[in-house]
Amino acid sequence: MSGVPIIILREGTEEIQEKEARKQNISAMVAISETVRSTLGPKGMSKMLVDSLGDVTITNDGAEILKNLDIENISANMMVNVAKSMDEEIGDGTTSVVIFSAALLNNALDLIEQGIHPKPIIHGYKLAMDKSLEIIKNIAETISKDDDKVLINVAKTAMNAKGISTLKDFFASLALEAVKHISNDDGKTFNKVSNVKIVKAPGKSLKDTELINGVYIQKEKVNSMMPEVIKDAKIAVIRRKLDVKKTEFDAQVKISSPSEIQRFLDQEEKILLDYMKIFKDLGVNVVINSSDISDKFGAYLARDGIAAIKNVGESDYKSILKAVDAKLVDDLTSLTEDDLGFASKVEFEKIGDDEYTLLTGCKNPKSVSILLKGGLDKILSTAEVSLNDVLSVIAKVMDTKTVVAGGGAIYIELAKQVRLYANQIGGKEQLAVSAFALALEEIPKTLIQNAGFEEIEKLTELRAAHKTDTDKWIGIDTITNTIEDNYNKGIVEPAELVNHIIKSGSELANLILRIDRIINSKGSKSPGM
Ligand SMILES: Nc1ncnc2c1ncn2[C@@H]1O[C@H](COP(=O)(O)OP(=O)(O)OP(=O)(O)O)[C@@H](O)[C@H]1O
Ligand SMILES: [Mg+2]
Repeated sequence: MSGVPIIILREGTEEIQEKEARKQNISAMVAISETVRSTLGPKGMSKMLVDSLGDVTITNDGAEILKNLDIENISANMMVNVAKSMDEEIGDGTTSVVIFSAALLNNALDLIEQGIHPKPIIHGYKLAMDKSLEIIKNIAETISKDDDKVLINVAKTAMNAKGISTLKDFFASLALEAVKHISNDDGKTFNKVSNVKIVKAPGKSLKDTELINGVYIQKEKVNSMMPEVIKDAKIAVIRRKLDVKKTEFDAQVKISSPSEIQRFLDQEEKILLDYMKIFKDLGVNVVINSSDISDKFGAYLARDGIAAIKNVGESDYKSILKAVDAKLVDDLTSLTEDDLGFASKVEFEKIGDDEYTLLTGCKNPKSVSILLKGGLDKILSTAEVSLNDVLSVIAKVMDTKTVVAGGGAIYIELAKQVRLYANQIGGKEQLAVSAFALALEEIPKTLIQNAGFEEIEKLTELRAAHKTDTDKWIGIDTITNTIEDNYNKGIVEPAELVNHIIKSGSELANLILRIDRIINSKGSKSPGM
């Protein structure tokens, strides 16, 4: 057999080759980048998203916008997925990763049009990516986990570009305090950010937002006769249906006389009373159940002054377990004192239109809540998205303890050093490494454009300012329109954020550059936009 592969295509299959395939993919991705580009940075604009039901969201968060786009092109979708992974792994930087990867692809397309084959471009991009990561490692500032000043600055920088920036001092301290509650020294604070529960409370204004040392659960008590407030709560967190199984009844009961009905009702009563006895013997006064509680059992609990919530979702009961230091129990007969949790107060309250259970004064509060207040639903949703970014970046820095200066500083410095590196490389790869440096500058360039400043002039000024190692953090502050040392100025972000932008942006670009064919089966969606 010869070494030439035979490709059998289904009837009606359309095949788009080489240049055309690449062009189609890249232009779809550049179009996505154009959609989010104007939102980057403190002077970025917001987008109004209208869904098919006419619901409106106003946001300048890249992840939010991309989530709502209806994209058919597969490569463009890959870009959206990279942004999503950015959101999951860092919690910020989604707009930047899209801008950077689109710039890499655009610059690659220019080189291809000059007759350079994608292979040396892919190789050059890989070299430049590795170099960039190495540079970041060398120049990033190391801080201690409890350097509150830098952590506050990280929070404020992430907020600069968001709707809640006018209250950034307030929210930065609040977010830092919240993250400190959930963190310990295991370097995994980021994975625990969901233990800061954000509860939206319409009505007041954002600056009335409070950090609650406890957990809010959107659940009402099972029976209205249960107490509104329980002090010194002894809490059982269980996963056991508190009901009598109807099936046992159906299968076994043949009723032939009224006395037999009574006997079986008594039996049901006995099972319920046995459950009650377990709680009462242990002094339990709050029951949190991830399963159901029947109306009848709810009435029994209420009669004995025990409060309960039922059908509590997994993330909620996990938060409670952490906050009150309890153990989840499936088999009630094995419930012991040791399994119970403690909170100095459990209360039921209505916030807006919703009923909540609030547990405060917990033994070991590894889970806290931010009661986010605000006048309008839209303001609350925007603030929630921003606050999530802020909590994530604080946690990331606590875990990794390295930061770099924002406002374009890190990208200008990287571009400078990557250009010097390009000079050491020969061949066509050199052109690709230089193209990579240019793509790095796309982020400061966009920040400048969005602020309405003259782009060439400011970019030239920034490049010229990076003379020696001590200039590495010189960047632009588009709020004050000054070019200075942004690290000293407090415009800082996690080094890991920039690492991730560079790594996943480059990997995506290289993946797309490797595609030389689009094979479209009959009936599949068009590769174009
Ligand atoms: N005062 C400032 N002047 C200039 N740039 C700033 C300032 N504060 C923050 N930035 C920059 O703004 C950029 C972040 O903007 P933005 O938050 O809109 O985008 P993102 O983080 O890439 O995406 P998203 O937050 O939507 O996921 C970072 O490069 C950051 O350094
Ligand atoms: Mg951001």
